Amino acid sequence: MMDQDQLDRITRLPKVELHLHHEGAAPPDFIKGLAQEKSVNLDGVFAPDGSYAFRDFVHFLNVYEAATQVLKTPEDYARLTKAILEESAANDVIYSEIFLSPDFCGGGDVGAWREYLHAIQEAAAEAEQDHGILLRGIVTCVRHFGPEQAKTAALCAAETAGDWIVGFGMGGNEAKGTAKDFAYSFDMAREAGLRLTAHAGEWGGARSVQDALTDLRVERIGHGVQAITDPALIDRIMDDGIVLELCPGSNVALQVYPTLDQHPIEQLRQRGVKITVSTDDPPFFHTTLRDEYRNLAQTFGWDEDVFMDLNTTAAQAAFCDEDTRRRVLQRLERT
Ligand code: ADE
Ligand code: ZN
Repeated sequence: MMDQDQLDRITRLPKVELHLHHEGAAPPDFIKGLAQEKSVNLDGVFAPDGSYAFRDFVHFLNVYEAATQVLKTPEDYARLTKAILEESAANDVIYSEIFLSPDFCGGGDVGAWREYLHAIQEAAAEAEQDHGILLRGIVTCVRHFGPEQAKTAALCAAETAGDWIVGFGMGGNEAKGTAKDFAYSFDMAREAGLRLTAHAGEWGGARSVQDALTDLRVERIGHGVQAITDPALIDRIMDDGIVLELCPGSNVALQVYPTLDQHPIEQLRQRGVKITVSTDDPPFFHTTLRDEYRNLAQTFGWDEDVFMDLNTTAAQAAFCDEDTRRRVLQRLERT
């Protein structure tokens, strides 16, 4: 049994988070405040207790997009960025990568996207000064918006690739289309020097992970938990050094697994797969990164060394430049 002191030390460790959606990290009160300012009707988005209300994954995506309607200007996104980074810093996050969607930030227009990005980066620079937290962006297409819209997201990504926009990814409904449908967009992003990740194996089974590796040539997988059903795929993930962005609280909240103790994270860790831990959309799933660490420590008996290893893996798998990575690793080592 772990004592309270040890649990407290674990929950307060410095953390590296690689999988966090910008709109998905919006606190309900933040969205309600904007809805009021802009007189937007958000009927059906919130439960009577004030939290986000959804029945299942597809309904979650609908509610997510409905809430996102109130985010209309670069200034709204700057305010959201500030709120998110305050919360991340309060959870001891020292480095975070966030999924940004040009579909929501300017509707895929490159000029508009640049304005949103500028506002987000300014807010991130302020948060870095105030809290010491470092943020980098991964431009993300939305699978159920289709391959044509993904190309506009990839173009936005390619046009703004650099030290801050460091990656390209894909979220959304995994049941829509095949990975191959999005290969053009991932190729465009790769050619622009961006590093690649995609959501797969959250809902689409091991096959979906395989397809993301083969057709999109990603080096990280968002979730990827369902790879556990295919030993040969796990071998491939190990051989190729693929990193899994695991979000156990999200998987339990969305009922991919009924309880945390049935989640394959410990099996994956014991097999030697490179795993990391993130929150995905924390206010939707009533979680924080501190909660995730506490729950994992209690459920699987993980000690500080296990969590330090996860964070070192995450820092090594981050899409930032080498100088930034060194700084992050140094801060982890000082713990
Ligand atoms: N977008 C936000 N959260 C997501 C999730 N868990 N899976 C797929 N797309 C998402
Ligand atoms: Zn996600």
